[in-house]
Amino acid sequence: MVARRANPLVTPGKLRIIRGSCNRQTVSMRIVIIGATGHIGTWLVPRLVGAGHTVTAVSRASRQPYHEAIEWDAVERVTLDRTAMEADGTFGQAIAALRGDVVVDLICFTRSSAEHLVSALHDRVELFAHCGTLWVHGVPRSRPYDETAPREPFGEYGIRKAEIERFLLEAAAGGFPATILHPGHITGPGWAPINPAGHLDVGVFDALARGDVVRLPDDGLATLQHVHADDVAQAFECAISTPGASIGEAFHVAADEPVTMRAYAEAAAQWFGRAARLEYSPWDDWRTGVSERDAAITRDHVLHSPHASIAKARRRLGFAPRYTAIEAAREAVAALRHIRY
Ligand SMILES: NC(=O)c1ccc[n+]([C@@H]2O[C@H](COP(=O)([O-])OP(=O)(O)OC[C@H]3O[C@@H](n4cnc5c(N)ncnc54)[C@H](OP(=O)(O)O)[C@@H]3O)[C@@H](O)[C@H]2O)c1
Repeated sequence: MVARRANPLVTPGKLRIIRGSCNRQTVSMRIVIIGATGHIGTWLVPRLVGAGHTVTAVSRASRQPYHEAIEWDAVERVTLDRTAMEADGTFGQAIAALRGDVVVDLICFTRSSAEHLVSALHDRVELFAHCGTLWVHGVPRSRPYDETAPREPFGEYGIRKAEIERFLLEAAAGGFPATILHPGHITGPGWAPINPAGHLDVGVFDALARGDVVRLPDDGLATLQHVHADDVAQAFECAISTPGASIGEAFHVAADEPVTMRAYAEAAAQWFGRAARLEYSPWDDWRTGVSERDAAITRDHVLHSPHASIAKARRRLGFAPRYTAIEAAREAVAALRHIRY
């Protein structure tokens, strides 16, 4: 474990009332973030430190945040392996011992994992924020859909996330202060975004940049709904600063509108001064032209075709995404090309 460091923005022993970036007065709190150095944590940790909170960042310390930020100097870094410690039953108590007023759980993927943590934190936290996914809805019955839409997930990931959500909402009804945020495709500089063909091969952007033909599945009208990682961080910050509005609730966290594969490809070609040359083929043909992995990722996105309303997060949390889906993707692609060429 790394030594505890105080937030220099906070006077020890005193509550400091400051204005958070969610435009509310924020009481300084101790916040423990589980899985703090990934896509979301890279942006969330500096936001929370900047808002005057004392942050403890939990990870296995096998990687660094995607971007350096001065705020990390004020963060306590704690090295824990959740998987190993859950196996021996010690993870929950280790998190409880960090004495967070708030615990943000960014890496929970099974109900048993959530149960283990909740039993250790019961009566010990003021807010518990879980990172879910839009995939809890499965194939949407209508578009747009809000948080009341059915949970009909398919695939192990979505099914397990829906089980966690159900468990946490039941726990919240029983007095545990849980909130759940469901992001879209998390996108930002430092990793490949979901591309206009719905998978992760950055070669699709290269092809659009060269003016080559790009083939899309079916009619290219499946939708993708990216969200910039800093907008996800913003939503967590908003939820933390408005516990009265967030506890016991689930929120979609995404760009305001989705984008069709076709419109995304056209926009991406324009980044490179090109008109997109798109062709379309039925799924069974299309899949033969890509790797099995890419086909599986695209299939997952085509079936989900998200169009999640974020009106609830806007209204109740004051969430206001800074990026459209296209803007988030553009920033990620700009960073990738800088790295790759
Ligand atoms: N990716 C998407 O588009 C997307 C969309 C919707 C929802 N989500 C949700 O977003 C969440 C993931 O957030 P993210 O994308 O920010 O994560 P991420 O980039 O995968 O980062 C994972 C973080 O957890 C740490 N970690 C991994 N395994 C650990 C372990 N066994 N013990 C302790 N720390 C561990 C990692 O650091 P170390 O490796 O150093 O431990 C890192 O800090 C998930 O709940 C996922 O369901 C993702």
